[in-house]
Amino acid sequence: MTATPKTSALMRRGAEFLGTEHAILCGAMSWVSERNLVSAISNAGGFGVIACGAMTPELLDNEIAATRALTDKPFGVNLITMHPALFDLIAVCARHKVGHVVLAGGIPPKGSVEAIKEFGAKVLVFAPTLALAKKLLRSGADALVIEGSEAGGHIGPVSTSVLAQEFLPALAADHVVFVAGGIGRGEMIASYLEMGASGVQLGTRFACATESIAHPAFKAAFFRGNARDAVASVQVDPRLPVIPVRALKNKGTEEFTAKQVEVAKRLDEGIVDMAQAQLEIEHFWAGALRRAVIDGDVERGSVMAGQSVGMVNKEEPVAEIIVQLMAESEEALSRR
Ligand SMILES: Cc1cc2nc3c(=O)[nH]c(=O)nc-3n(C[C@H](O)[C@H](O)[C@H](O)COP(=O)(O)O)c2cc1C
Repeated sequence: MTATPKTSALMRRGAEFLGTEHAILCGAMSWVSERNLVSAISNAGGFGVIACGAMTPELLDNEIAATRALTDKPFGVNLITMHPALFDLIAVCARHKVGHVVLAGGIPPKGSVEAIKEFGAKVLVFAPTLALAKKLLRSGADALVIEGSEAGGHIGPVSTSVLAQEFLPALAADHVVFVAGGIGRGEMIASYLEMGASGVQLGTRFACATESIAHPAFKAAFFRGNARDAVASVQVDPRLPVIPVRALKNKGTEEFTAKQVEVAKRLDEGIVDMAQAQLEIEHFWAGALRRAVIDGDVERGSVMAGQSVGMVNKEEPVAEIIVQLMAESEEALSRR
């Protein structure tokens, strides 16, 4: 008998899909979601996901092997669809018989879903619209993650609560759907499960767990941060596209705004052409997440964090966070 029968019953389909005790994923976080955090999540009954990010196939190969050495529980690998070596990375996952691959960062390129399914892994995808979600599920994706704009990292424009209302009634009866973005407590998990979600994905809540290798200064910034400090990056000029990222505001976010104004001015004056201007904007944040997570530069690095950062106040072992989330969900469901 489990300590959380109501929550576990609602999570059953998601947990079976993942092969875990709880249908709680720790979303891949570049630089943060490496062997230590991923194995800790999976060992605690959740589902850890390695963030491949910009890793080479060799680095991913090492990371999967090192994670396997720390856990015999299932975990997944998150691949960014625009990675130039995507198919080589898929081949690495195949060699390691990874059970679940998450395709993030855009529409999966032709043949990628098929290549993953060919070695027997399950494919999880993100979809910004219901129409695209249906198309991806029709063309072989096994599960969907809907991620609202409250989340940390790269975000879309629509909040989790609205996405949940649009996607879950339409898809949850027939498909495995995980909800992500802005989840800080179990009461919220209970609500999405009741709406039909098979499980949930959290990032911000786990980023500063004891097992996370994030720099102490990165963790301290999280503990200090409130919901309103986790802001989406702003695009100043329609000619210079900015992919929205939610991160704690700091000197870097201020300088980014100033940089856009300055580049737009040079574009107006004909000092730079459009391609060079756009490249300068694109390159501003290059390496910035690493600077924050690994080097602890929380002033000029990108301290990616979701709005739930206000609910992260101290370093806690992953297992305690998961037990707490499950207990809060159970209590909420028991009160119904
Ligand atoms: C520091 C950080 C880095 C992230 N990096 C990635 C990434 O590399 N790939 C990805 O698909 N999602 C990334 N995300 C998003 C998470 O996987 C997860 O979906 C998100 O954090 C969930 O929302 P929450 O932050 O509100 O819990 C990142 C999030 C954070 C906070």
